[in-house]
Amino acid sequence: MKKKIALLPGDGIGPEVIRQAVKVLNATADRFGHYFEYCYADVGAIAIDHFGTPLPDVTLDACKNADAILFGAIGHPKYDNDPNAKVRPEQGLLALRKSLGLYANIRPVTTYANLLHLSPLKEERIKGADFIILRELTGGIYFGEKGRSEDGKTAFDTCTYHVHEIERIAHLAFDYAGKRRKKVTLVDKANVMETSRLWRDTVSKMHKNYADIELNFMFVDNAAMQLIQNPTQFDVMLTSNMFGDILSDEASVIAGSMGLLPSASIGLLTSMFEPIHGSYPEGVGKNIANPMAAILSAAMMLDSLALTEEAQAIRDAVQFILEKGFGTPELNPQFPYGCAEIGDLIALQVADPKSFRFSESKMREQTSTII
Ligand code: IPM
Ligand code: MN
Repeated sequence: MKKKIALLPGDGIGPEVIRQAVKVLNATADRFGHYFEYCYADVGAIAIDHFGTPLPDVTLDACKNADAILFGAIGHPKYDNDPNAKVRPEQGLLALRKSLGLYANIRPVTTYANLLHLSPLKEERIKGADFIILRELTGGIYFGEKGRSEDGKTAFDTCTYHVHEIERIAHLAFDYAGKRRKKVTLVDKANVMETSRLWRDTVSKMHKNYADIELNFMFVDNAAMQLIQNPTQFDVMLTSNMFGDILSDEASVIAGSMGLLPSASIGLLTSMFEPIHGSYPEGVGKNIANPMAAILSAAMMLDSLALTEEAQAIRDAVQFILEKGFGTPELNPQFPYGCAEIGDLIALQVADPKSFRFSESKMREQTSTII
C-alpha cells in the first residue's frame, strides 16, 4: 500500500526524534510491503527563520495533500523569554490545528510494569493505570476573542463553546469508551463556568444514546488531585482545550517519562500525530532525547491508516526494547543509550522480531562502548 506522509520535524529535538520514527516506519514498510512517501515541511521557529511565519502555505498544502501528518516538536527559547514577540512558533501549531479542523486530541496514558519505579508516584497507586485523555482542540479559551485595553492595563481571553463543538468530541469519547472499559469522565468547572454547564447539559443528553457507557462528572481541581491519588479509576477523560492541556502534562508523570507518550489529533481533514513532549532545547544535538513517543505516534498514525497489524508490530518492538531494559538516559541513567541507537534497535526489532538473540548480543556490545 502506498501512503503519503507529511513530516513536520519542527524545532529543538523534533528533527532527531522524527528521524528515528522514519527509520522505524521504513522498517515497517519493508516488512509489510508498503511504500511511504515522505514530504518534509517546516513549522514553528524554523519556519519563522526560513519564511517569516510559523505556518507557511507550503507546509499547510503539504499537510492537506498527505494521508497523515507526523509532527515533531515546536518552540524555541528565544521566543519564550520575549512575551511581546509578534510572531511565536506556537502560533504555527495552533494555526495548523484550526486550519485542518483538528478538534480532538487523544492522549493515551499507559504504564509499563518495568518502568513504574521511574514515576515520582508510588508504584502501587499507578500500577495498571490505563486511560485516554480526550481534549477538545480547536475551541475554548485558546481560540476565543482576546485583547488588551487601549491603556494596556486590562487584558481578556474569552472561553466560548458551541453545542456542535461539544457534541462531535463527546461522540468520540463515548465511542472510545465503548471499545475500552466503558466509562467517560467529563472534567469541567461547572460550579463556576457557563461553558462547563453547557458541556454537562450536552453530554448528559447524548448519554441517553449510549446506555452501556457509565458517565460521571468531575470538577477539574478535583480531577487534578484524583489523577495523582487514584489514576486507575479513569478510562476516558473528556475535557475542554485548556483543562486538557494542563491535565495531560500532569498525567505524563504517571508513565514515568514524557518521552513515552504519543498523541493523535483528529478532525475534519488530515489527522496529525505527535509526541506530547516539547522541543527540549537543552537536549538538542546531544543524542539524548527519547524517540519512543515519536515512534509510538507513528504507530498511532498507522492505526488511523487502517494498518493495525503494522502499528502493533511497532508497539510490540517498543515494549520489547523497554522490557530488555534499554532506554535513553532518563529511563536508564546507568547504561544510557542514544536517541539514534534506540531508533536503530526498535527498527531492527520491527524488521525481524525473531532476531533478538543476535541483536541482544549486539545491544550489549553497544552498551559497553557507550558507557
Ligand atoms: C500542547 C502544547 C501546545 C498547547 C502549545 C505549544 C501551544 O502545550 O500541545 O499541549 O498548549 O496546546
Ligand atoms: Mn501542552
